[in-house]
Amino acid sequence: MERLIGPIHIKAKKGDVAERVIVAGDPARVEQVSKMLENPRVVNTNRGFIIYTGAYKGVPVSVAVHGVGHPSSMLVVEELAMLGAKVVIRFGTCGAMVKGLKIGDIVIPTAAAYYPGGAFYQYLKEAVCTATAPHFDVLKTLVEETQKAGVNYVLGPVVSSDAFYAEDPEFVKKWTSRGIVAVEMECAGLFMLGAMRNLKTGALLMVSDSLVEELGFASAEELREYVNRASKIVLEALI
Ligand code: ADE
Repeated sequence: MERLIGPIHIKAKKGDVAERVIVAGDPARVEQVSKMLENPRVVNTNRGFIIYTGAYKGVPVSVAVHGVGHPSSMLVVEELAMLGAKVVIRFGTCGAMVKGLKIGDIVIPTAAAYYPGGAFYQYLKEAVCTATAPHFDVLKTLVEETQKAGVNYVLGPVVSSDAFYAEDPEFVKKWTSRGIVAVEMECAGLFMLGAMRNLKTGALLMVSDSLVEELGFASAEELREYVNRASKIVLEALI
């Protein structure tokens, strides 16, 4: 059977989505970033996958909601690619798994391990594993722009989990022993699609909590200031 021809969930036309796209799970963060664009216009609201297209320093840029987890975010990235996206940077949050990071500090993934088997298996048992990585150009630029901004950051592999609340008492021990620096929920799928669909992908993650230190869990409101600071880094890296 042939692959479905889309886009099915994003009701936009070719030309509505820029080649350079920032994606984030939280619609409020997407709206905040859209305010930094010149002439932002909404090009999709269907399914809550709100997408703004405008420009940053004259360069066309879109900002899109990808929802939470791989099923949602991969569907959105696939459809963005169908609509002409060429560079996709995830601007997300993560739970730190190394010490010394504070709320709002940055993790730039150099790779993402998929927590094997999806949510179902994550709750029950493990399946097979693979490895994924961002595009080097995007990674390099994200690092350079973060350094220029003078924000504390860590560079390293993250683990992309499908189950936020799965209770695995060995989780931190297992993943930190493999050199993983943070947990989040979408990068592995994004990086895999980068390779499969010829997209340049990357990610910049703000620390919202820590699994190895007592930081609490930062609310979207508490992250607002950090979002402003980090979105400039992502936009500069994107153009
Ligand atoms: N995103 C932000 N914090 C997270 C955590 N602790 N687990 C998974 N995804 C996250």
